[in-house]
Amino acid sequence: MNKPYIFVTRKLPDTVIERLLSFAEVKMWPYEDVPVTREVLLEEAKKADALLTMLSDCIDKEVIEAGQNLKIIANLAVGFDNIDIPFATERRIAVCNTPDILTDTTADLTFALLLATARRLVEAAEFVKAGEWKSWSPLLLAGYDVHHKTIGIVGMGKIGQAVAKRATGFDMNILYHNRSRNEEAAQMLGATYCSFDELLKQSDFVVCLTPLTDETHHLFDKEAFKKMKKTAIFVNVSRGPVVDEDALYEALVNGEIAGAGLDVFYKEPIDATHPLLTLKNVVALPHIGSASMETRFAMMELCCRNITSVLNGEKPETLVNKEWLCETKRC
Ligand code: DGY
Repeated sequence: MNKPYIFVTRKLPDTVIERLLSFAEVKMWPYEDVPVTREVLLEEAKKADALLTMLSDCIDKEVIEAGQNLKIIANLAVGFDNIDIPFATERRIAVCNTPDILTDTTADLTFALLLATARRLVEAAEFVKAGEWKSWSPLLLAGYDVHHKTIGIVGMGKIGQAVAKRATGFDMNILYHNRSRNEEAAQMLGATYCSFDELLKQSDFVVCLTPLTDETHHLFDKEAFKKMKKTAIFVNVSRGPVVDEDALYEALVNGEIAGAGLDVFYKEPIDATHPLLTLKNVVALPHIGSASMETRFAMMELCCRNITSVLNGEKPETLVNKEWLCETKRC
């Protein structure tokens, strides 16, 4: 019998894919820092029983259609907005993601970004290295306090809750907005549900952790930034298109808000000449929410286990399209 064929869209450490090699033929895109080309992705999808994909790969109808033998798409991310889920489900392809194991790591980064933006850490570190520090002075690089302030979390999923937990350590007042109320978590964390507008008006820190969907596309637009406090800091660790970047730029330049900490962008990588990157009150990171060694290895291993399960006729651990189970008679 032919071995199943697995295509991995980015170079991963050999130790990670070893477990796949015991039962499958595995081909990897050879570069770690260059995305797979569309042409290669389509060619490989034609042959593949499984694809191990990155959040930067566009797995649309064309790729899924090319995958005549495709049984699973294992995405190395908790988000899956890069994949056409309804079409994959229609084609009886399992789509898996990597939730839970990245929750604390991503919450740590979110809080670090919030602190870095509020206390101007990047600007201050660059200032010292550039030899600009001439003397101590009372308001030198003075930022904003975080402790005892109000944090407004938009998207109270697992990462949102983990951020709220960190905020309790800073004695913050916690507000949240979500599609549905999460009373249990809210009670445990002392978080108060409020409308989106109320959250924008009351928060000193507005933290965006909502998934990208048709409803959340450009959720943070001109009107949203206008409703925020002039001293508010906006933090985005979800997906770039949730924000209208032109509106954010205008809000920052016109002093409608005080600063922004951004881990994600409309187009990634963001162009080095992008206007947002010219602003001192913007801290910009290259989408590293879950990027700790421990977590990224755990995510890669989870993808491999999900692929192994599906190709062996078993249930994967973290399935996105639950309908797939019944459609393939595994429910
Ligand atoms: C994800 O996994 O979707 C996050 O963006 C991690 O950084």
